[in-house]
Amino acid sequence: MRIVIGITGSSGSIYGITALELLKEAKVETYLIVTKNGWKVIHDETNFTEDYIKSLSFKYYDESDFDSPLASGSFEYDGLLISPCSMSTVAKIANGISDNLLTRVADVCIKEKRRVVVMPRETPLSPIHLKNLLKLSVNSNVIIMPPMPLLYLKPRSIEELVKYSVARALYYFGIRTSYLRSWK
Ligand SMILES: Cc1cc2nc3c(=O)[nH]c(=O)nc-3n(C[C@H](O)[C@H](O)[C@H](O)COP(=O)(O)O)c2cc1C
Repeated sequence: MRIVIGITGSSGSIYGITALELLKEAKVETYLIVTKNGWKVIHDETNFTEDYIKSLSFKYYDESDFDSPLASGSFEYDGLLISPCSMSTVAKIANGISDNLLTRVADVCIKEKRRVVVMPRETPLSPIHLKNLLKLSVNSNVIIMPPMPLLYLKPRSIEELVKYSVARALYYFGIRTSYLRSWK
């Protein structure tokens, strides 16, 4: 299985990093794209190094790398998880603007009907954000999954809380990790 992971410049980069960790454990081939602003927020919010984050992926691409095979629908991969997803990237994808490799991959996945899961992060949400999210949801094969804490699972730490949400997002690709829980 091959999944593209996108990390953008919204708060919550730990969600994308955790997805890479869980997918590495699950031996899924991951292709990572971190936007320019994504790296900025990673440096602001976490202590992870760029080398460590890149090493979690099977292959890393810069957002400017349109020569990447990912930019073409002819390269086979199963889908795209954008975690976290900024409102800027949501707006671009909802309106078909493919101005970097990540928004191009989203465009490709939508046209090829591949699974896309978006974990948008902003609060509060403006009418513009909501309209763009609705547009993505109703017109395409995109699942909108804000990283809302699964408090009913009684997470014991922030790490666990993040893992529960990420495991839920990965479930939409048919991946069941050890942190996938259901209400009993
Ligand atoms: C520390 C920091 C936190 C940010 N948090 C958010 C956020 O939670 N949601 C959001 O939509 N944008 C947030 N932004 C703004 C985005 O980084 C900005 O809109 C940027 O253009 C997004 O570009 P990208 O989607 O290509 O990464 C934040 C910026 C910084 C520097």
